[in-house]
Amino acid sequence: ELNLKESLFRLNKAVMGFYFDELKQSKQGEKARIYLEKRGISKDIIQQFKLGFSPDNWESIVNLLKKRKIPKKVAVQCGLVLERKQNNGYYDRFRNRIMFPIFDVNMQVAGFGGRVMDDAMPKYMNSPETPVYIKSRILYGLHAAKQFCRQEGFVYIVEGYFDFLSLYQHGIKNTVASLGTALTSDHVRILKGYASKMVLVFDSDAAGINAAKRSIEIFMKEGVDTRVLVLPEGNDPDSYIVKHGQDAFNDLALKAKTVMQFLLKVSIDTHGLSVEGRIRILDDMKQHLSLIQDSALRSLYVKELAETLNIDEKAVLEKVREQYLKQN
Ligand code: UTP
Ligand code: MN
Ligand code: MN
Ligand code: MN
Ligand code: MN
Repeated sequence: ELNLKESLFRLNKAVMGFYFDELKQSKQGEKARIYLEKRGISKDIIQQFKLGFSPDNWESIVNLLKKRKIPKKVAVQCGLVLERKQNNGYYDRFRNRIMFPIFDVNMQVAGFGGRVMDDAMPKYMNSPETPVYIKSRILYGLHAAKQFCRQEGFVYIVEGYFDFLSLYQHGIKNTVASLGTALTSDHVRILKGYASKMVLVFDSDAAGINAAKRSIEIFMKEGVDTRVLVLPEGNDPDSYIVKHGQDAFNDLALKAKTVMQFLLKVSIDTHGLSVEGRIRILDDMKQHLSLIQDSALRSLYVKELAETLNIDEKAVLEKVREQYLKQN
């Protein structure tokens, strides 16, 4: 098992080098170089995060394996090649994509993500789960961000590769990306090792808001001080900072919402403040409030909610209690 992991890391590293050279030097790589330039990604960032290009070819990696006498079994386990049907050989998983190596916290290459350069689907392809790529535990960029998370005392959590890379390039280096997967309690516990406060900066679209709501439950269970930075609608951290710059981002960050403020805003946006709407909002919020561990904090939020909805505080408290008893 130890040997297998070692071989998987070594293979990933060799393949990262191959993709990196293809981006830098190959004729085909020209369109990838242009794509990254258009997205505003600097040469330094390409170098530091070893971005690459997988050529439009079915057997680039298959041939690399042959040359290096790497057992096909290892490569299949690594997710870099797939077996052809009817047992006649192998083909590359990643073709004609911008490649993002995914490092673990010790800077070993755990896996890859690959993005198309046009509107083709799927937009991203990712390495499968392997003995070295455990998705519930890996956060993109943590190997580089960890020292800055310690310095700043908090960490921004974004969804995507470009969100991470753009923020980093603009000097906001205490950031990690969840890569679109749901955050897990392992992720949160790992981050707690570097910073006590966390700021969610998900895409300002329906998918991003739902992902934020799901993540919040995990943060609350882990008792982490969490804020939510809400971007203007239609933005993600990358598009926002490319358009408006670092100072504007930092200004927004100062106005990050508490978890309860965020959940309340989402509920108000959904249900409105009519009489019926306010009852629905109370229904949404009692759920969240009943998860707050600290009773003083809980009572402050109950008070705030009662005021916002113009409902008697005792009635709100009663609802939260009912909910709490139902859950426990
Ligand atoms: P987004 O869907 O928000 O990407 O995916 P985007 O912002 O529109 O496009 P780019 O990245 O700026 O060009 C956010 C993250 O979710 C994962 C990837 O990790 C991506 O960075 N994702 C997205 C996938 O794994 N597969 C997909 O098909 C789409
Ligand atoms: Mn999105
Ligand atoms: Mn996005
Ligand atoms: Mn984006
Ligand atoms: Mn609702």
